[in-house]
Amino acid sequence: MPLVSGRIIFDKANEFGFAVGAFNFSNLEFLKAILEAAEEEEAPVFVQTTEKAIRYAGIEYLSGMVHAVKDRYKIPFALHLDHGKSIDTVLLAIRHGYTSVMIDASDKPYEENVKITSEVVSLCAPLGISVEAELGNLEGEEAETRLADPEQAKDFLLRTGADALAPAVGTAHGILKLRERSEIDFERIKRTKELTNAPLVLHGASGVYKEYVEGINLYGGLVKEAKGIPDDQIKRAVEMGINKVNTDTDLRLAFTYALRKILAEEKSTIDPRKILKPAMEEVKEVVKRKIRLLRSSGKASLF
Ligand code: G3H
Ligand code: 13P
Ligand code: ZN
Repeated sequence: MPLVSGRIIFDKANEFGFAVGAFNFSNLEFLKAILEAAEEEEAPVFVQTTEKAIRYAGIEYLSGMVHAVKDRYKIPFALHLDHGKSIDTVLLAIRHGYTSVMIDASDKPYEENVKITSEVVSLCAPLGISVEAELGNLEGEEAETRLADPEQAKDFLLRTGADALAPAVGTAHGILKLRERSEIDFERIKRTKELTNAPLVLHGASGVYKEYVEGINLYGGLVKEAKGIPDDQIKRAVEMGINKVNTDTDLRLAFTYALRKILAEEKSTIDPRKILKPAMEEVKEVVKRKIRLLRSSGKASLF
């Protein structure tokens, strides 16, 4: 069971009360690291690309790689559009064989978010492509953080028919999190789950592990003001009802650390494969660490 609709994974995770890792990629090294880690852990997984990743690599390369290798893996996995900002990007993803999309219209007024998300659902549902939507905004994305209102989440899901919801619960993208509060708003996750019983998604979930930040700085980098979500908070968020956990920054940190290290230690190397291999291995390690944290190892057997 290789490339599947995100809906199958969302529903299984919701039914059995666990979370699946969702990892961003924009090149071969990240994609291979994610799929191999998930296969070794026997874990279902989302591989996802943002609009920026699509602009960087070209959607033909990103979707082409996934479709070329889809039968090599036994685990169920979805190719997901992360933070699609327009119907045009969603259509592009549909044309390139994505099996899941996120429409992120959460910066728009509520009624407009409902309208755009409903339109995306009407395009995707007949094709069996799952739709994730967002309510509220992450720290730092707008002048003021707006956390998701659980009552509004219920109304939103009823009116749009989206398969999964990413409610803003106090996290942020990037290397600096929990600036406005000391922990995720767990009660908000719990209440949203109680009212909707829908698959819920946590964005901005990277741990920003100290060893990688320090390692990067040790080998000549300058990463300051780094603070992630502690592992125990991720565990608790899953217990409260999160079913998909998005991680990008931790992969970037692992990759950059390994690159800096090899370049510093092997000064005569000019073969990119010798430079990229250890970086790919480090990304694989961090993906495995996340999968184990989410306790989604072995869950492929549920499908
Ligand atoms: O949305 C989550 C990402 O971490 C940001 O990715 O730089 O590809 O837009 P991006
Ligand atoms: P991080 O920046 O915490 O890895 O979040 C990634 C994310 O939410 C992608 O959608
Ligand atoms: Zn995100």
